[in-house]
Amino acid sequence: MTLEFSLDSLVADACEAGCIVVGMHDKGALGASAARVDAASGGHITRLIASGDCTGKAGSSLLLHALPGVRAERVLLVGLGEPGALDAARFQRVAQEAACALASLPAQLAASFLGEIEVSDKDAAWKLRTLALAAAQHAYRYTATLKPQGPGVRLKRLVFAAAASAAQGLEQARGMAIGADFTRALANLPPNICNPAYLAERARQLAAEHPGVAVEVLERADMEKLGMGSLLAVARGSANAPKLIVLRWNGGGAAKPYALVGKGITFDTGGINLKVQGGIEEMKFDMGGAAGVLGAFLAAVELRLSINLVCVVAAVENMPDGDAYRPSDVLTTMSGKTVEVLNTDAEGRLVLCDALTYVQRFEPQAIVDAATLTGACVVALGKHASGLMSKHDDLAAELLAAGENTLDRAWRLPLWDDYQIQLESVFADFANIGGKGAGAITAGCFLARFTEGRRWAHLDIAGTAWSEGRKGMSTARPVPLLTQWLIDRAAADADSR
Ligand code: BES
Ligand code: MN
Ligand code: ZN
Repeated sequence: MTLEFSLDSLVADACEAGCIVVGMHDKGALGASAARVDAASGGHITRLIASGDCTGKAGSSLLLHALPGVRAERVLLVGLGEPGALDAARFQRVAQEAACALASLPAQLAASFLGEIEVSDKDAAWKLRTLALAAAQHAYRYTATLKPQGPGVRLKRLVFAAAASAAQGLEQARGMAIGADFTRALANLPPNICNPAYLAERARQLAAEHPGVAVEVLERADMEKLGMGSLLAVARGSANAPKLIVLRWNGGGAAKPYALVGKGITFDTGGINLKVQGGIEEMKFDMGGAAGVLGAFLAAVELRLSINLVCVVAAVENMPDGDAYRPSDVLTTMSGKTVEVLNTDAEGRLVLCDALTYVQRFEPQAIVDAATLTGACVVALGKHASGLMSKHDDLAAELLAAGENTLDRAWRLPLWDDYQIQLESVFADFANIGGKGAGAITAGCFLARFTEGRRWAHLDIAGTAWSEGRKGMSTARPVPLLTQWLIDRAAADADSR
């Protein structure tokens, strides 16, 4: 991450920066700093309101140059909408509006006064974190496989006008933004670069650059010894060997670890059940769960959270081939349970089940997996909420709260045993698909069979991990949710000690 954040006690009109950012409500109600700028400039903003150039409507913004009486080169006036306190989601949209405008300016140093805006039920730390995360997100440009287009992002440093007590929000934003950048960079790469070996290499690099992080990569032969017949079956059609990546962070002494598990299908063709109904090119994002848990892991390490954390990524490519696994194959998973493959495109659960069995050797106190698992989840929840499934109400509540807090929201779907019959098979313990109806839930039910007796939750991020279309990019979700959950766990564990 290149954008740096800091915090200072600043006065809008006296602040020397390439750009200052101030807010104004609809109908000309200026925020405190906008009012200062207005007074210092002899009523410049008041005149713009009178002439109708400037409205303060939500979603609008206006860039003013060289205002008399104002030290900053530019003033970015951001519309806040209706007067009165903003709700959290509206504030986040304002933050994104401002971040988008800032990222296109030639200014290297900017100062934001948006932290003074009133937001219902949110403190200064939350506001700064939201502003900083939005700024980091909009300062990202994809450059891995093309020359930077235009001048690129010139903003280097963003200072927030706020009291020192809000510093914690900024520190959290730094961690989350570093994690999110890591996730985005991986997920946006094409699958001919980002294959299982590449993911493993990046994990090794992460460990090398961060003291206290241990890494282990299990190769095909290691997985054969462990009996990971399910994961290995999915891998068989690909010339790219599978990798099981294990990262560990020990910040919590002797406590049992939290575990994150990610689906890392670096490309999902569907296998012999080849994807023929369109959208196959988007399946480079099918490692979004892996990228997300790696990003959240990195964020936790950057924040030096006082917890133990283990992160397991099942990195596999799903390809059709003469040696590929077939529909009707019966596989023996690491757990010993057998699975009838009724569709080779339901491969995510087949790699995750062995990863979930493996991670239990660390005796985690909770396991959360993230996976771009089902198109059905996108049908149910669209691109706004991730699907959350868990039999543990307390764990589900923790994750939903972390999602609300960061506005990286999830919505719970039931994981009742009623759905389990959809997985019945006469040739194996159960099948890998559940037939018509409740596709996201039956996928969750499949995973539940490998996590019995464990505190476990599943996040289906098929709709939330990237924005669709030709210009679709990784959203870095669920890094904010997972990181917030880990921050909350560290705080709760500290309280109970
Ligand atoms: N990676 C896909 C799920 C997916 C589809 C994510 C579209 C994002 C957008 C997954 O491996 C898959 O193919 N799932 C099948 C399951 C079916 C065969 C039971 C699906 O959703 O169609
Ligand atoms: Mn698939
Ligand atoms: Zn898939």
